[in-house]
Amino acid sequence: MTNAVAAANNSVFTSTNDVPLQVGAPGARRLRVAVLGCGRMGQRHAYNIYHLTPRAELVAIADPSPMAEQWVKENLSSVNYYKTTDEVFAIPDLDAVVIATITSTHAPLTLQAIDRGLHVLLEKPITIDYESSVPVVEAAEAHPELKVMIGFVRRFDKALLELYNHVQAERAGTPYVLKSVSQDVYDSTGYFVQYARGNGGIFMDCGIHDIDMSRWLLNTQSAGRQEVKRVIASGLIAAHPELEEMDDCDNAFCIIEYANGTSATLHLSRTGMAGYNSSVELMGMKQNCTVSTPPSSRIKVADFDGHHNPTPATYLDRYGEAFISEMNEFAAICLDDKAVPTTAYDALQAAKIAKALTVSFLTGSPVSFNKAGEPIIDKAV
Ligand SMILES: NC(=O)c1ccc[n+]([C@@H]2O[C@H](COP(=O)([O-])OP(=O)(O)OC[C@H]3O[C@@H](n4cnc5c(N)ncnc54)[C@H](O)[C@@H]3O)[C@@H](O)[C@H]2O)c1
Repeated sequence: MTNAVAAANNSVFTSTNDVPLQVGAPGARRLRVAVLGCGRMGQRHAYNIYHLTPRAELVAIADPSPMAEQWVKENLSSVNYYKTTDEVFAIPDLDAVVIATITSTHAPLTLQAIDRGLHVLLEKPITIDYESSVPVVEAAEAHPELKVMIGFVRRFDKALLELYNHVQAERAGTPYVLKSVSQDVYDSTGYFVQYARGNGGIFMDCGIHDIDMSRWLLNTQSAGRQEVKRVIASGLIAAHPELEEMDDCDNAFCIIEYANGTSATLHLSRTGMAGYNSSVELMGMKQNCTVSTPPSSRIKVADFDGHHNPTPATYLDRYGEAFISEMNEFAAICLDDKAVPTTAYDALQAAKIAKALTVSFLTGSPVSFNKAGEPIIDKAV
């Protein structure tokens, strides 16, 4: 196991540093939350709720895996552990669930939670194929009294929020291009290939974050119903030959032409050899603005290989603080009846683009969108 993967699996948590934790009035009600799915993301969310979200209370965790049971015993032994999600849905005074199970279970669990009258923080994507996300979007929109928030964590990242506010204040001038590079650290253990089988491929699983970020920073909803004109994608396999039989690749290149006249270019990679890298550059008519990956330590080391800062090992290190902010925001949104910043509709729009990019990669042809905002995809693909 590489150090990076070991770090992810062992759940090395970041400190709060300068994350503003939301604190309610003394004695105020706290949001009673359960976590469904206790793998990499579920553990992170459970830890953050328990230790770092003052306005929420972690009341239960459900996951059938013996490893999850062991993790709860070792790390959060005072929290009720269940093997099934049905046992959690039967808890009478529950307010919300965080769904961090494998992607194929997201839609049925979200529909069950909405039916049960619970707020939901749902990990991305809703499903691995956007068409099957539609019932979830409809159910969420039919219940405005419930908050259904999607875990597009980048929208809660301090540096990217600063960039968003900078653009909104018109300091960069009219934005026209967003370039994003997202490199997951290379995993030689085989874990990643196993994970990739159930999670929708590089465009849906990895690219959906970049796509959502481009929609957000380029304000693409301003164009109305048809947000996208056309997408083009290509890709290659550098290190994981097993991906070929899954119609997937480990490095992908995307161009998204939005209907408001802006474009996004993405490089998505599973083969980062220098730790996790997420670099974002926004070009406006007055400025180029860049958010690069900060080093994971302020100590700069000098040795015979040169002078260097350590890089973040995984996305959990780069976006660790953003996950804490996301959970604090979710508690505040539910308790204070605030608007959800990352809706099921946003997830559906991003998934349409991810699906169109997947089809473009597989066929070698661009995919256009129609006036109703739907990708024009040959059903035979
Ligand atoms: N926001 C992000 O940056 C981010 C990063 C990684 C993963 N994710 C998303 O989080 C989800 C989980 O990913 P992960 O990396 O934690 O995967 P994982 O394989 O580490 O964990 C998934 C867990 O879900 C459990 N599970 C499966 N079916 C279940 C069910 N019916 N009820 C309860 N538990 C069940 C499994 O036993 C496992 O422990 C995926 O949808 C993924 O796309 C989001």
